[in-house]
Amino acid sequence: MELKLFLGKSGLQVSRMGIGAMVWGQPKGMARWTPAQLSYGPSHGRQEEEQALEVSRAAGVNLIDTAAMYSRGASEQRVGELVRGKDFMVATKFPPGIFSRTGDFQQALEASLARLGRNSIDLYQHHFPSNRVSIPQLMEFMADAVEAGKVRAVGVSNYSAEQMRTAYAILSKRGIPLASNQVQYSLLHRRPEVDGVLEACRELGVTLIAYQPLASGALTGKYGAGTRPTGFFRRFMRDFQGKGTEALAPVVALLRKVGDRYGKSPAQVALRWLIENESVLPIPGAKNGKQAAENAGALTFSLTPAEIGELNEATITWRV
Ligand SMILES: NC(=O)c1ccc[n+]([C@@H]2O[C@H](COP(=O)([O-])OP(=O)(O)OC[C@H]3O[C@@H](n4cnc5c(N)ncnc54)[C@H](OP(=O)(O)O)[C@@H]3O)[C@@H](O)[C@H]2O)c1
Repeated sequence: MELKLFLGKSGLQVSRMGIGAMVWGQPKGMARWTPAQLSYGPSHGRQEEEQALEVSRAAGVNLIDTAAMYSRGASEQRVGELVRGKDFMVATKFPPGIFSRTGDFQQALEASLARLGRNSIDLYQHHFPSNRVSIPQLMEFMADAVEAGKVRAVGVSNYSAEQMRTAYAILSKRGIPLASNQVQYSLLHRRPEVDGVLEACRELGVTLIAYQPLASGALTGKYGAGTRPTGFFRRFMRDFQGKGTEALAPVVALLRKVGDRYGKSPAQVALRWLIENESVLPIPGAKNGKQAAENAGALTFSLTPAEIGELNEATITWRV
């Protein structure tokens, strides 16, 4: 398998895995309203993020994902600071919002460019569809931004198959490919396989960027009967909490069994399961160099078709 893939038909070549920066850059002032116990588990700092980036880069990862919404722009700001002068592709997202006028869209784009400290964004994604926004209108704005040289590739996020097809058709008329659709996808959340999104990605040549590929840490095997996730959002993780930790245990046991054959951890096997699909690019979040190094280890081995089949079978109930 190639070490790199093209983001859809955009011509941008990226590593088979990226890194997610959703929880990066929380400034001190924000601790008042997003303390660690209220947000995404244990807190970390700039130095750890820098290490995560360095370790990822050394392992060949060259794509980082952020969004204007993450910590009210602080994640974009931090990503901009850390990747400056480095050969990294930056993917960001603009909020669902009300983008009825060109000015609204341009304002959001300029604000992201300023926070990132860049003249252009490698992959610009619409974060969520909203019934207050017209996808065709938005895609025209995106196409204008590509023609103005401010955006290199156009992506969407949390789009259904039908919404993807609408975006794809409008962009096609302007000669621009839809590069990606970023959706939740992991062994514990296999809905894209049954809601038509994965199929539409394959058919249209669009990359499926898999967010929460470790099910917010659950697939690392660190949660069990006595070890619950901490942090407001993690405590309410639907993926395995709906089924209870009892349902998680056999999946982790299988990941461990398969991983032992290669000297790999459950997290690495879970990420590799996604990488084995040519249309899929996972973007695991990492808070420090240790997590980033472990995650990048998913790039350096392969699963057999029989092992992929076994993992599919064991997580069949997570398809809906
Ligand atoms: N488009 C969207 O709507 C959307 C939504 C959500 C996320 N995203 C994107 O997807 C990215 C990844 O999602 P996510 O961070 O929510 O979920 P994730 O990648 O499934 O989990 C990441 C978290 O798991 C833990 N972790 C990661 N690697 C680990 C390792 N090797 N060992 C032990 N623990 C490890 C860390 O948290 P702890 O240390 O606290 O356990 C880390 O923050 C985000 O950064 C963001 O870019 C997009």
